[in-house]
Amino acid sequence: MAKKRRIGILTAGGDSPGLNAAIRAVGKAALGYYGMEFVGFRDGFRGVAEDHRLRLDKSTLAGILTVGGTILGTSRDKPHRMEVDGRKRDMTKVIVRNCEKLGLDALVCLGGGGTQKNALRLAEAGLPVITLPKTIDNDVAMTDATFGFATALGIATEAIDRLHSTAHSHHRIVVTEIMGHRAGWLALGAGIAGGADVILIPEIPYDVGAIARAIRLRSRHGTNFSIVAVAEGAMSKQDAQALQAAQQRREKARDKMHRQAANLELEALEAKHAGNTLRLAKQLEELTHLESRVTILGYVQRGGTPSAADRLLATRLGTACADLIHEGVFGVMVAARGDAAEPVPLEQVAGKLKTVPPEHPWITSARRVGTCLGD
Ligand code: F6P
Repeated sequence: MAKKRRIGILTAGGDSPGLNAAIRAVGKAALGYYGMEFVGFRDGFRGVAEDHRLRLDKSTLAGILTVGGTILGTSRDKPHRMEVDGRKRDMTKVIVRNCEKLGLDALVCLGGGGTQKNALRLAEAGLPVITLPKTIDNDVAMTDATFGFATALGIATEAIDRLHSTAHSHHRIVVTEIMGHRAGWLALGAGIAGGADVILIPEIPYDVGAIARAIRLRSRHGTNFSIVAVAEGAMSKQDAQALQAAQQRREKARDKMHRQAANLELEALEAKHAGNTLRLAKQLEELTHLESRVTILGYVQRGGTPSAADRLLATRLGTACADLIHEGVFGVMVAARGDAAEPVPLEQVAGKLKTVPPEHPWITSARRVGTCLGD
């Protein structure tokens, strides 16, 4: 009798709604449809390095479709730079060895951009790796969407809805910070869906004066409150220029000393950026004479039960992943393309950030309905 295929699964990077739905989909298809064996690793790549496993059978997979977070736990540990006994070590070979010892025929990695890069490294080291795209940021290249995004979009939109009534009642500006890392998908999507008056995203550096003018114009027309949806990665034109210059200085650094100086400069800019939303609210208050308040949505955007759209996407991609393992297709990410799920070589995904193109239809729609994008 042929040996049963055995597959391992892990979740890495920030958690996001839909991870459990995806684990369930891969698992149910692998166990029930293809008769494979299925094993989970705890806390991302660290679980494989430390051989920390969770048995995944029919009963473990039952009832998790609607559960937020990940039953496996997650971490941002990288295989090639993992902290072990207080120092960074390259654990790639240990991971490969552990997978071989377990007789794994496939390692399924669920994650965002960082995970795609780490998975490619493992594939290059000889592991049969296959990945799924998850993140609330929606910034993974070569896929129409990532699971987690639709849920976070709903949460951020509802938050903007709620902020409207309080901003309106107090005649205030409410600046609400939305996650998304270096991409503006979440702030743009929620800003449009929630009817924010101003939407600021990293892809379009802003001018505080232009935002203040848009808010004052609203006041002149009798609407003396405004909602500003700001992506956590959004920055002013000056800050964007300073960042670009420092990045160029690092790229061109001739020696260690210049590289260190450029790195320090970049760290200082990052530290300054941490207080950006509060600073922006204060500037707007000064320029418009309207009281302003800040709401940082933070981790509520990543928590809780996945939306129907995310459950559906995670189930589509997860079952397609089991089909591809059955066919022996590895070194790929299972991407969403229209109604289909297609394998894309990891080389085409790893290290590539999907940001909002300046001419994207969402941008055009936002402008058409009169939203200020800060430029
Ligand atoms: O990638 C998802 C995300 O929530 C980003 O939007 C955010 O910048 C980041 O993770 C926060 O990371 P952490 O969970 O490590 O604080």
